[in-house]
Amino acid sequence: MAHYPSLRPRRLRSGPGIRALVRETSLSPADFIQPFFVQDGEGADEPIASMPGQSRLRLPTLLERAAEAYEAGVPAIAVFPKIADEHKSYRGDAAWDDDGLVPRVVRALKKQLPDLLVITDVALDPYSSLGQDGIVRDGKILNDETIEALVQQAACQARAGADFVAPSDMMDGRVGAIRDRLDADGHADTMIMAYSAKYASSFYGPFRDALDSAPRGGADKRTYQMDPANTNEALLEVELDLLEGADMVMVKPGMPYLDVLWRVKEQFQRPTAVYQVSGEYAMFKAAGQNGWIDERACVLEALLGFKRAGADAILTYYATEAAGWLND
Ligand code: PBG
Repeated sequence: MAHYPSLRPRRLRSGPGIRALVRETSLSPADFIQPFFVQDGEGADEPIASMPGQSRLRLPTLLERAAEAYEAGVPAIAVFPKIADEHKSYRGDAAWDDDGLVPRVVRALKKQLPDLLVITDVALDPYSSLGQDGIVRDGKILNDETIEALVQQAACQARAGADFVAPSDMMDGRVGAIRDRLDADGHADTMIMAYSAKYASSFYGPFRDALDSAPRGGADKRTYQMDPANTNEALLEVELDLLEGADMVMVKPGMPYLDVLWRVKEQFQRPTAVYQVSGEYAMFKAAGQNGWIDERACVLEALLGFKRAGADAILTYYATEAAGWLND
């Protein structure tokens, strides 16, 4: 049997100095995007039971938390609105009201923290009485009618000053339609972060609790979000979004889809984000709170895994907290 006396990989692991010198991947607060839930009205923030540490924030608290994220070195936040039932409708028209919650939040954020990037979600689910990302007729999500609505929603968010609009709806052709409208409106500088490979995942459960946006019949999300069994299709979705003008693409959820993230980055070499979703957060929190895992160490290891697999940016509910751990 051949043996290789000179090859002793453990030499490069023998102490912290040498390990630091040969380390291939690094994690920094600048990699993170902090998602926030926001709601209208006075009164206390409302904790989200299935996401310990996260709440539906009132505007003043959101501004405080955004400042904390920015000061910890997190360059971007994503805003998700909890819309009151009386503003929900079948077509979701509250999604492009210039006086709606999201445009007001964006204007307040850009005024107070002009350098913090603000990402707004383009999809109808928080506004839809059926909890669907698009417009439903006869049990089907109508692709092209939905795009007309999404284009109006994105234009409204750009007028408010969003740095990125982020279509998370998975309709065919929406990125190109949004790009055309933004350009026509004089918003050529507004960027698009496309939820390109977004899977029909059970890991979104806590997010839907947070926004009260669980699908209430009408249609099946599996007719637009991707089948968890597929990866070649993810490459097609990413390619189309890039051709249509996406500035960044995304894979979502995160940890169960590291192979998809890797293939997307390998194939296209373009700015790629990954979303560590609500169900992933809930699992780390639950196990950590029970003392079953070391939450901080496990979360940092998972986030590093995203970088290793090719992520340029990571949406994570841990963003500000993990930035604090890294800054320690
Ligand atoms: C909806 C949207 C969802 C998430 C982000 N945008 C839920 C869904 O598609 O049902 C999930 C995020 C998370 O679970 O953290 N457009």
